[in-house]
Amino acid sequence: MTIKPLRKAVFPVAGLGTRLLPATKTMPKEMLTVIDRPLIQYAVDEAREAGIEQLIFVTGRGKWSLVDYFDVSFELEATMREKGKSLAPLEPSRVPYGELISVRQQQPLGLGHAVWCARHVVGDEPFAVLLPDDLMAGTPGALKQMVDAYNRVGGNIVCAEEVAPEKTGSYGIVTPGASDGNLTEVRGLVEKPEPEVAPSRLGVIGRYILQPEVMRELDAQETGAGGEIQLTDAMAKLIGKQPFHAVKVDAVRHDCGDRQGYVLATLALALQREDLGPVVREFMQGSTSPRT
Ligand code: G1P
Repeated sequence: MTIKPLRKAVFPVAGLGTRLLPATKTMPKEMLTVIDRPLIQYAVDEAREAGIEQLIFVTGRGKWSLVDYFDVSFELEATMREKGKSLAPLEPSRVPYGELISVRQQQPLGLGHAVWCARHVVGDEPFAVLLPDDLMAGTPGALKQMVDAYNRVGGNIVCAEEVAPEKTGSYGIVTPGASDGNLTEVRGLVEKPEPEVAPSRLGVIGRYILQPEVMRELDAQETGAGGEIQLTDAMAKLIGKQPFHAVKVDAVRHDCGDRQGYVLATLALALQREDLGPVVREFMQGSTSPRT
């Protein structure tokens, strides 16, 4: 089996972010800030650490700021230079020339449809999918850990974790086969099953490494759970034809698509930082007021 290197990543960023209204009324949810950078920056940093060279954003109307964010901000940089300010804080938000490509998903027809909108850019190569709402805090990053597994077993890999029994209806759920360390063979996949019918509690979280053949399955445009074109259904059709594994990574997942996850992500990341950790810890222990 030849394992083609992973160079491309698809970021489905066309969603409306209705769970976070009114914050997301005029601002893409992926631009919400955790500490000092938007969610999309965390996902892009994770991808680049994993060796990704081409970033493919699947955007929609009102999402242009995501592409602008990774551009050169000419006026800002000129002004900062004139004032003798360091440009270092802007460094992570600069994408090398030509390495960010955006396509539009003109209608919200589902995650599978969003990924399929990138088919011409993906071409005949394996690709990663990163859902930026899922902020993965880990060292090395979640995708890097997945790439390490991919380089051993090839094929398709989903990131997975045990979810609460009552939450299976919010995830793609794996029918697990044999396990070897952090890898579990995937025997089946079902999108958002109710707990009574869920094959396990092993839920897919927002990181995938997929083979280009999944695009051929998506060509059929079949709708599934919620009347949407589901990535899970297209992936399920590859099982048995190509290697398919779920990997549990050593990282903490924060679902920033909802209020609780978003607040906890901010706190967890602040606590880890040298410049913010001590003051946040003290505040949480009740020994300082927010103004001190
Ligand atoms: C999507 C996928 C689902 C996956 C989840 C991970 O659902 O359809 O299979 O488990 O992302 O976050 P969504 O959260 O977009 O409803």
